[in-house]
Amino acid sequence: MKLWTGRFSKEIDKKTNDFNSSIKFDQRMYKEDITGSMAHATMLAAKGIISDDDKDKILDGLQGILDEIEAGKLEIDPEAEDIHTFIEQTLTERIGDAGKRLHTSRSRNDQVALDIRLTLRNEVDELLPMLEELVQVLCKKAEEYSDTVMPGYTHMQRAQPIVFGHHLLAYAEMFLRDIDRLSDAKRRMNYCPLGSGALAGTTYDIDREMTAKALGFDGVCMNSLDGVSDRDFCIELANALSLVMVHLSRFSEEIILWCSWEFKFIELDDAFSTGSSIMPQKKNPDIAELVRGKSGRVFGDLMTLLTVMKGIPLAYNKDMQEDKEAIFDAFDTVRMCLTAFIPMIDTMTVLKENMRNAAAKGFINATDCADFLVSKGLPFRDAYKATGELVAFCIKTNQTLETLPMEEYKKVCDLFDDGVYEAINLEKCVNDRTCLGAPSPKNVEKRAKEIAGNFSRNK
Ligand code: ARG
Repeated sequence: MKLWTGRFSKEIDKKTNDFNSSIKFDQRMYKEDITGSMAHATMLAAKGIISDDDKDKILDGLQGILDEIEAGKLEIDPEAEDIHTFIEQTLTERIGDAGKRLHTSRSRNDQVALDIRLTLRNEVDELLPMLEELVQVLCKKAEEYSDTVMPGYTHMQRAQPIVFGHHLLAYAEMFLRDIDRLSDAKRRMNYCPLGSGALAGTTYDIDREMTAKALGFDGVCMNSLDGVSDRDFCIELANALSLVMVHLSRFSEEIILWCSWEFKFIELDDAFSTGSSIMPQKKNPDIAELVRGKSGRVFGDLMTLLTVMKGIPLAYNKDMQEDKEAIFDAFDTVRMCLTAFIPMIDTMTVLKENMRNAAAKGFINATDCADFLVSKGLPFRDAYKATGELVAFCIKTNQTLETLPMEEYKKVCDLFDDGVYEAINLEKCVNDRTCLGAPSPKNVEKRAKEIAGNFSRNK
């Protein structure tokens, strides 16, 4: 039975009902819908709009429905139009007229706007600790590998020496910003639309602040049209989630490269890798590849939400029912990715030797060699040119800066002396990179502790 009986003389066409219905995906908001209705009924009674007796019946009835859904005793009707309809109708079947009074001074438009905010608030609260855990794992690993020399890259070319811990902390910084973005979006979302009615509020003497407070909001939406038609928060969250996926995807790409025989910087634990059906030697980084691939879903969800919202006039339009699948999928995807990604990082084996060997090739200490000449008084541009000539000579004669004899150095510039061998030592190169944000092992340890410490203070 539809909610809108009276005006209509026929039941809705069966296939159209399926098309129109959102129960398949909005049933996950059953708890939030019930919580919202309880707060609404309590307020209605406090304001004398319904009797205390009706309120008690409503609260008991709703609690019973909640308990039964959670215990698997009450099945949500897949034919229902949406979760709001299902719960209200079930309530009315059980408690009669009191159930019919629940919707006084409320519309499904402010109801759904409320439910989705409550649901997404919980989603954020579930996701934040996962992101924090990822950051903690990165900090732990960063400390462990704070002096593990590896080549840093630009253009995928070996560029300058860094330590592995510094590389990991770069991702920690990204995920910290993600945490901040999600928390920030949650803060802006945390205003209560209930009482906006269908679009124009209500003539009943309701207390919007009371329901807002009971439901843990920081305030109420101050315009009834905006209250029912704002989905900015879905877009903001999808944007924040898209950036989480960008970061996870870049990280995954590196994991995949590092696992290749060409790099062999790390090895993933068997529990987080897969084999091949035909090639017995294979160990594949499927998890990282899937995370990289799934980023597309979340970007798609963001695009869906932007497109749904961009052309609809005020206030509520049914297009907005499309918000839920998109934003729920974005949260589900990120949660699933993190569930596999965090232990994969936590259990990976770091092959320090291979990183060190890679760092020894590719002249990544050439800048330090030039800086040595600068310390002898040569202008940087001249030092750069001299070092470039040395590198070209080394490539031609198959040598490294470390093994090149002093007489060859001197041929290019007589400011060179034996001190250069110490200056280009990779460990010294990273140890000396002490400026703020640079990869010296001390910096890395300090920053890892700082980040990890901030989390424990926040708790
Ligand atoms: N299922 C709808 C949605 O998700 C609920 C609101 C329906 N309101 C309406 N006036 N048809 O948006």
